[in-house]
Amino acid sequence: MPSEWLSEEHATAYLAIKNEVPQRAAGESTLLAELPKESKRILDLGCGDGHLLKLVLQHCPDAVGVGLDFSPAMLRRAREQWHGDDRVQFVEHDLEQPLSELGTFDAVVSSFAIHHCPHRRKRELYQEVFDRLNPGGFFCNLEHVASPNDNVHAAFMKAISEIETGEDPSNQLLDVETQLQWLRNIGFEDVDCYWKWRELGLLIGKRSVSSLKLDESQEFPLKQVIVMRHDLKMRRGKQIAQGAHASMSFLANRLRQKESVSLNELTVDQQQWLKARFAKICCRVNSEEELLAIHDAAVEAGLEVHLIVDSGKTEFHGQPTKTCLAIGPDRSDRIDAITGHLELL
Ligand SMILES: C[S@@+](CC[C@H](N)C(=O)[O-])C[C@H]1O[C@@H](n2cnc3c(N)ncnc32)[C@H](O)[C@@H]1O
Repeated sequence: MPSEWLSEEHATAYLAIKNEVPQRAAGESTLLAELPKESKRILDLGCGDGHLLKLVLQHCPDAVGVGLDFSPAMLRRAREQWHGDDRVQFVEHDLEQPLSELGTFDAVVSSFAIHHCPHRRKRELYQEVFDRLNPGGFFCNLEHVASPNDNVHAAFMKAISEIETGEDPSNQLLDVETQLQWLRNIGFEDVDCYWKWRELGLLIGKRSVSSLKLDESQEFPLKQVIVMRHDLKMRRGKQIAQGAHASMSFLANRLRQKESVSLNELTVDQQQWLKARFAKICCRVNSEEELLAIHDAAVEAGLEVHLIVDSGKTEFHGQPTKTCLAIGPDRSDRIDAITGHLELL
């Protein structure tokens, strides 16, 4: 369904009331107070006419900015306002599509825009933001969030009734806690709602200074390789279950042994793999002998390897059967030395 934000009227109506949004200035000043003044490159998602970008570039005098929006009307106004100023670049982009190659940033900011994306896309976008932040970088999302119930929502609508009489149909509001948990799971640190007034909240997460850059900037990307026996002719569901079992064993075995597992107990490469894209590749072998040869070579190379033996209760005529294994996560060059010759599954 086309978004109302693509219409000139909708954009114009918002711009007429944007400065009347109650408590907006309080949220913005909290955002600025958190944003390091020495930030050099800042991205604004759903920048509108460049309102937030203007504030953050005043706050960070040495920074340049990139603003993304999909509304031609908003982009036109933004470009008019910044005409002749090469500190800022405005790019037409639909936030429902993956972020294009924009380089990396010291800060990614957004105000009242991401809640227009479906929830699944919000989560993906947060990961893409994390991937584009330099170590030590900030993500600040001043956002319209969901109320916990209808009464609280009605009170919010009443509080903003002077500027908004009805619900914006393009709103896809989500509660604060879910979004904070996503940010933590992605690997952001110091995640919290730093400011809140009714349905307006400021969600912030930082990328740790010590975090290495992601897979693509490492000389050898990190991955886990799952090697599956093809000769057993397992059903697809069975293969997926066995592969999932193999992949999880790397953490599940530690949990079983110690009842808890901390990132600090893992190697730096394993931590990086978990914090980044946890890439997995599935290859195939055609016999138990081949599977065991791969297993032994991986053990000999000092790689983490987990061999899965199915109990045979549902398949394999009751016979315990070696079905697959997972190697890693580890550096691709180390794993490729063992599995590089195998066909993909
Ligand atoms: C409420 S306005 C906020 C604008 C600006 N950030 C501000 O604070 O004034 C929402 C902005 O999100 C943009 N937007 C909504 N959905 C979008 C999408 N899928 N892709 C890109 N921009 C989008 C709209 O065009 C609009 O500029």
